Amino acid sequence: MEKAKYIWMDGELVNWDEAKVHVLTHTLHYGNGVFEGTRAYQTDDGLAIFKLQEHTKRLYNSAKITAIKPNIDYDILKNAHIELLQANDFKANVYLRPLIYLGYGQMGVHHVKAPVHTMIAAWEWGAYLGDDGLENGIRVMTSSIMRNPVKSTFGKAKAVANYLNSQMAKYEAIASGFQEALLLDDSGFAAEGSGECLFIVRDGKLISPPNDNSLESITQDTVLLLASEMGIEIERRNITRDEIYISDEAFFTGTAAEVTPINSLDHRVIGDGKRGEMTKKLQSAYFDVVYGRNDKYKDYLTYI
Ligand SMILES: Cc1ncc(COP(=O)(O)O)c(C=O)c1O
Repeated sequence: MEKAKYIWMDGELVNWDEAKVHVLTHTLHYGNGVFEGTRAYQTDDGLAIFKLQEHTKRLYNSAKITAIKPNIDYDILKNAHIELLQANDFKANVYLRPLIYLGYGQMGVHHVKAPVHTMIAAWEWGAYLGDDGLENGIRVMTSSIMRNPVKSTFGKAKAVANYLNSQMAKYEAIASGFQEALLLDDSGFAAEGSGECLFIVRDGKLISPPNDNSLESITQDTVLLLASEMGIEIERRNITRDEIYISDEAFFTGTAAEVTPINSLDHRVIGDGKRGEMTKKLQSAYFDVVYGRNDKYKDYLTYI
C-alpha cells in the first residue's frame, strides 16, 4: 500500500505514521466496528469522490445497526473526506476507508461504554482485481464458506465482524489458485463475492440476486440503473451455482472491484471465457459515470 501524508482521526489530520491505536482497542478484540470503501477518481476536472452521500449514509446506517453511537456528526464526517483529499497530494485514483470503531478504555463484551472513534484513511489504489482482471476476467471458485446468514448476523451493515467470513473465503480461493470467491447463502443460492455483488447474463437478460444475502451495494445499484437506461431486461432473483456455469456472461461489481468480468467458476468456462458484450457495455458506461464523462450523473461526484 502506498502511504499518504495524512489520516483523518476524530477531527484532526494526523501524520500517516502517527495514526495509531492502543492494543486494548475494543474493536480489535470483539469485532464491533463499521466501515466504508469509497473511491475517488482522477477526472478531467480533478479528483472527485463517487457517491460520497450514499457511502456516508450507509456508514451511519451500519453504526445504527451495530448499536454504535457515532462520535462525529454526519455532515462533519462527509466533509472530512474532502478535507483529507485536499490535504493529501494524490496523483492517481484513490480509495477511501472511513471506519467508526470502539477504542481503548473498556474491556468486556458489553460495548456501550467503550469510547467511539472515527477515522478516514485514503491511499492511491488501482484495480482491486487487477487491470488484467478488468479486461480479461477472473477465475472464481464457489467457497466452502457460507455467506453470513441473516439469522445470525446483520447483512445490511458493513460491519468489521462480517469480514472474517469474506477473509476466509478469499484466503481459500487464492490458496486454491483462484482470484476470488463466490459465497453461497444458507439455502445454497449464490449470495455474493468476498467483496462484490454478482451478475449473470442469460439470453440477453441481466440477472442479479436480491440483497437479502448480499450487501446493499452502491455499485450494483449504479449498474442496474445504467442497464435499465440501455433498455436491458433485468431480473432480481435467486441464482444457483450451476446456472452460473451455463450463463452467457458473469461479472462482479463493487466499489473496489468496479465491474470485473468472471471468466470461469469452479473450472467451468463462462460463455467464451472472455469479457462478454453486455459486461463490456456496462463496464464502460460505469467508468464514464465515475470519471465524470456522463453529464447526466455529474451529481454523483464530489469534486475536491
Ligand atoms: C461483501 C460485499 N458485498 C458487496 C460489496 C459491494 O458493495 P459496493 O458496491 O457498495 O461497494 C462489497 C463492497 O463494499 C462487499 O464488501
